[in-house]
Amino acid sequence: MPPPERDSLVPSAIEIRNIAQFAGQEVRIEGWLYNLRESGKIVFPLVRDGTGILQCVAVKSALPPEVFERIRGLTQESSLGVTGRVRQEKRAPGGYELDVTDLDVIHRVPEDRPYPITPKEHGVDFLMDHRHLWLRSSRQRAILGVRHEIIRACRDFFDDRGFTLVDTPILTPSACEGTTTLFEVAYFEDKAFLTQSGQLYNEAAAMAVGKTYCFGPTFRAEKSKTRRHLTEFWMIEPEVAFARLDDVMTLAEQLVAFVVGRVLEKRRGELKSLERDVSRLEKCVPPFPRLAYDEAVKMLKEKGSAIEWGGDFGGTDETLLSQDSDKPLLVHRYPSRVKAFYMAPDPARPEVALCVDVLAPEGYGEIIGGGERLADERVLVERIEEQKLPREAFEWYLDLRRYGSVPHSGFGMGIERVVAWICGLDHVRETIPFPRMLYRLTP
Ligand code: 4AD
Ligand code: MG
Repeated sequence: MPPPERDSLVPSAIEIRNIAQFAGQEVRIEGWLYNLRESGKIVFPLVRDGTGILQCVAVKSALPPEVFERIRGLTQESSLGVTGRVRQEKRAPGGYELDVTDLDVIHRVPEDRPYPITPKEHGVDFLMDHRHLWLRSSRQRAILGVRHEIIRACRDFFDDRGFTLVDTPILTPSACEGTTTLFEVAYFEDKAFLTQSGQLYNEAAAMAVGKTYCFGPTFRAEKSKTRRHLTEFWMIEPEVAFARLDDVMTLAEQLVAFVVGRVLEKRRGELKSLERDVSRLEKCVPPFPRLAYDEAVKMLKEKGSAIEWGGDFGGTDETLLSQDSDKPLLVHRYPSRVKAFYMAPDPARPEVALCVDVLAPEGYGEIIGGGERLADERVLVERIEEQKLPREAFEWYLDLRRYGSVPHSGFGMGIERVVAWICGLDHVRETIPFPRMLYRLTP
């Protein structure tokens, strides 16, 4: 039996999300003033505490005059404690209201320096500059809640299937996903790079524990200014010894279905407040369609894309492939030359790699990339040399092919792309608390 959930760490107050348990009782809420509606002798402070929003009702005739006056002039986002009796009210947003008996102000936002984000419309740049405050809005709180649920679901998925979490380093000596998107940092007398992916270390871990995953921030010096690219994003990456491409395609399919199912189960309220069409998410049940790169190119040409066999898909191509579908699409066997050095070639057709990209439905594009790794030392050395990667930096990686090399496969799923899709957001900038992009490093 799990221990009973404590209502609040702060013994002086209850949490708004638990308000129903206190119907008819007098309670205290601690939070911030979200909005204030006044109508003559009654004032309606809308209070948020991070767990929910509660409408309070302050009636002039029922309160000492100084308390009523304190409430009347209260400024947006002032912090406060409010005491009152909980009353069921079907018309109220959460089904309950609080009849105020007392209110104390913890910190009052001064009139001459009001809270910058008002209920009126603001431009995106203004909101991004005030991201540290914007997070308080109910839409952002809903996204944070869904993001948390997605991350928890990913961890549960792997933990429940016997995977061992092995943390991989952030400071690395070499590239994993191509040398053009590396962030270089000074490292004492030398230099280092911020990791692009934990994969290479995951491969070492898989040879130690069989099934592993890592989950952490990854970095790409992407000069692309698109709705799908961040320079810092979080990636969950499983790696499995002895697994083949087909095995990890199935694993990816199960992971995505599990995550969507969990959010639908636990975060209906958040999805509703984001006005997400959940009927489309509900259709996201396996099996997901699978398509070879060759067929995808044919499909794209029919839809008017300029793609030629051998080229990588652009964002528009991914959108074209996934926009009509309600299920994620697994595209496999891309030409080796558009993929990273570590990809195993298909023995039946060495010009294509045993790799897979999962494209989210509704035009959201790639959420997962992965596949089977090159297990042969000689071919791997060739690839490293072809791609002009510094051989010394990969000696340890080559050791994995020298001591009991086995077929192995894995993938990486970008958390922000998944949050964008599940929440129905049109840009990844709202999927992470403090986004890092080509032109944004603050706050
Ligand atoms: O396809 P990618 O580059 O694959 C890898 O990094 C592999 N080493 C993973 C592995 O096999 N262990 O990236 C994987 C996923 C993408 O599908 C996408 O969801 C996300 O990471 N991603 C980004 N998300 C936001 N901004 C970016 N700039 C991203 N680049 C990749
Ligand atoms: Mg990729």
